[in-house]
Amino acid sequence: MIYLDNAATTWPKPESVYREMDRFFRLSAANPGRSGHRMALAAEQAIERTRLALARLFNIADPNRIAFACNATDALNTALKGLLRPGDHVVTSSVEHNSVLRPLKGLEKRGVTVTKVAASPAGWIDPNAIARAIGPETRMIVTTHVSNVTGTIEPVAAIGALARQRNLLYLVDGAQSAGTLPIDLAALPVDLFAFTGHKGLFGPPGTGGLCIGERVAMKDFSTLREGGTGTRSEEELQPSELPQRFEAGTPNTVGIVGLGAGVEFLVDRGVANVREQETLLMDRLAAGLRKISALTVYGPEAAQERGAVVSFNVAGWRPADLGTILDQRFAVACRTGLHCAPEAAKTIGAFPLGTVRLSLSIFNTAEEIDLVLGYVKQIAGSPPL
Ligand SMILES: Cc1ncc(COP(=O)(O)O)c(C=O)c1O
Repeated sequence: MIYLDNAATTWPKPESVYREMDRFFRLSAANPGRSGHRMALAAEQAIERTRLALARLFNIADPNRIAFACNATDALNTALKGLLRPGDHVVTSSVEHNSVLRPLKGLEKRGVTVTKVAASPAGWIDPNAIARAIGPETRMIVTTHVSNVTGTIEPVAAIGALARQRNLLYLVDGAQSAGTLPIDLAALPVDLFAFTGHKGLFGPPGTGGLCIGERVAMKDFSTLREGGTGTRSEEELQPSELPQRFEAGTPNTVGIVGLGAGVEFLVDRGVANVREQETLLMDRLAAGLRKISALTVYGPEAAQERGAVVSFNVAGWRPADLGTILDQRFAVACRTGLHCAPEAAKTIGAFPLGTVRLSLSIFNTAEEIDLVLGYVKQIAGSPPL
């Protein structure tokens, strides 16, 4: 199997992720922060170790500003529904994932207004277009960091600078960037950064989190869930301190330990090195695809301008058929269709059938890329199903 569906979830994970999850689950998986016995304390320490590793990865001075969540979707819902009120206006883009678009659609029913700025056909969000969409009621800008359809790396520094100038909150969907691009949240003008654990961070599914910057006032940030935290149990209301405010209920300890092992693997390797390796592979893949006639390759030309994702179509072929042949005849795993981002498909002219998406991790090799290029060429040269 050649696995090129890493934007959906990375596979394989580093050995240390499997090993640490197994070890922790067998030996230390008590309920953290609840009981005072040694196993509960060990579980709590393991959770805090992951938080610390994430803080190091994203350069966040206070690890408590990272609240664990089930995935990026959960973190994005927490930020959007916790901070936006009737009458507020939000600016977003046409290349967002449904994990942004659907909560915003729901919020529209509750009196929030939304402007969706059209990205370019290569999937690029223009900060000037965002600036033009800002009005007196605008409270927040929300954009993706890397498009999961075109792979385009968005100008988050410029958009964040604009948000600061206009005194707006900036929420970034880092589902495709965390672990694949070096990210310095001390330097980036981003107030809320949502990440998922199971993609570039090499953790298991069911993990993720929200990084909450100091410009976000806790008094304005309501919770989606309230419950046990193991702290301030005598109080009726959810504690206001981070991270407990957003961590009600028993956490996914085993998953968070696996996430910690994934992040430590990345920190050891250096995300800049990972990025360099993936850029070389992506350059080989995207440039190779562009050489095949009958192919439309979406997104930016330069590998430096895209994450580890490339989408394409073959004239006359339905993307789903192409994916089936890649899987069944050639044992290549990819994703086809709309990738949960229908507006992005409209932006690039690939709606309603979507695209074939190939996405990399550092566990892919140049040999695999060359094989896949050969398979795609073979399919493109044959009559559509
Ligand atoms: C850009 C983007 N945002 C959000 C998500 C949602 O991530 P999760 O399913 O882990 O919540 C994804 C997942 O594919 C994504 O690609």
